Amino acid sequence: MNNVILEVKDLRKRYGDHEVVKGISFSVKEGEIFGLLGPNGAGKTQTISMLTGVVEPTEGTAVIGGHDIRKEMNQVKKINGLVPQDLALYPTLSARANLNFFGRIYGLRGKALKERVEDVLRVVALTDRADEPVENYSGGMKRRVNIAAGLVHHPRLLFLDEPTVGVDPQSRNHIFQSVQRLNRERGMSIVYTSHYMEEVELLCHRVAIIDNGEIIALDTVKSLIAMLGGGVIYVGLNQVDEALLARIRALPGVEQASIAPQPAAPPANGGEAADTLAIAPTRPLVKVEARHSQTALINLISFLNEQDMTLASLEILEPNLENVFLHLTGKKLRE
Ligand SMILES: Nc1ncnc2c1ncn2[C@@H]1O[C@H](COP(=O)(O)OP(=O)(O)OP(=O)(O)O)[C@@H](O)[C@H]1O
Ligand SMILES: [Mg+2]
Repeated sequence: MNNVILEVKDLRKRYGDHEVVKGISFSVKEGEIFGLLGPNGAGKTQTISMLTGVVEPTEGTAVIGGHDIRKEMNQVKKINGLVPQDLALYPTLSARANLNFFGRIYGLRGKALKERVEDVLRVVALTDRADEPVENYSGGMKRRVNIAAGLVHHPRLLFLDEPTVGVDPQSRNHIFQSVQRLNRERGMSIVYTSHYMEEVELLCHRVAIIDNGEIIALDTVKSLIAMLGGGVIYVGLNQVDEALLARIRALPGVEQASIAPQPAAPPANGGEAADTLAIAPTRPLVKVEARHSQTALINLISFLNEQDMTLASLEILEPNLENVFLHLTGKKLRE
């Protein structure tokens, strides 16, 4: 399946002088689970809101199932399903009544409506409790009803905006399974936003990493992780100069060595407040990019040992998306 279901073309959103989506372009293939991974405020929800007709783009456009979102939103809405980040349910109504309501908005009636409602209740595994008022549900169950509401008209392209935030582990697993099943069994294309890299690694075929309104990398999870090459090692030393960096660069297994900008330092103490940094003199942190992390590490340690240099801290970054983000931006994905 190589047909493109969604093609985003230089999409922008401005509020006054603040450009929150800065000309992004990407495409999603039919049958693909596509991740939008980025920290708070990156522009994920704004992007989805433009693609689903919740807000107007300032510039640029997108084509969904052959329809331009700026000209044919009515057609687009039949293809799209949206599960918004914030719950949109009637708390006093049961799950079944909520889903009936959403189905009617989409023009479903009678037997067709009933069948769809029962179908989506099964998808999110809530058939047993479908007649209880939604306000009695756990956070995770409410999220699942919210997902079902976005599915009731059988969209070809489903937008899920952070569907697991504040969700218990059991509901989280249900959500993952539903997403995978909708994709595998029904061929549904899915745009999945998250700031949890584990979810994106698990679910998504391809991922766009978005920061500050821009896509800074887009590829398969595997290729993105391969960007880290052999791995990255952070080593805290008491003194660093250019001559020392040059010697580190020359070690077998090492690709590059540079001084890491201080805010980028992975917190050695689990991220405690910045005021400890203000008291303690900051120690230079060297970022060593390895061709082969094991070899680089062995050589680095024995070199520092020969030089009688104290190793103040040492961190080896695991090859995962979190560290790809850190590597690209100097920031942590989750603050
Ligand atoms: N109505 C608005 N007016 C002005 N600025 C807005 C408006 N809506 C969103 N923004 C700004 O747009 C930026 C992107 O917000 P968006 O909600 O898309 O982020 P996000 O990536 O979804 O973050 P999160 O992970 O917290 O949901 C933020 O700086 C936000 O403050
Ligand atoms: Mg958001």
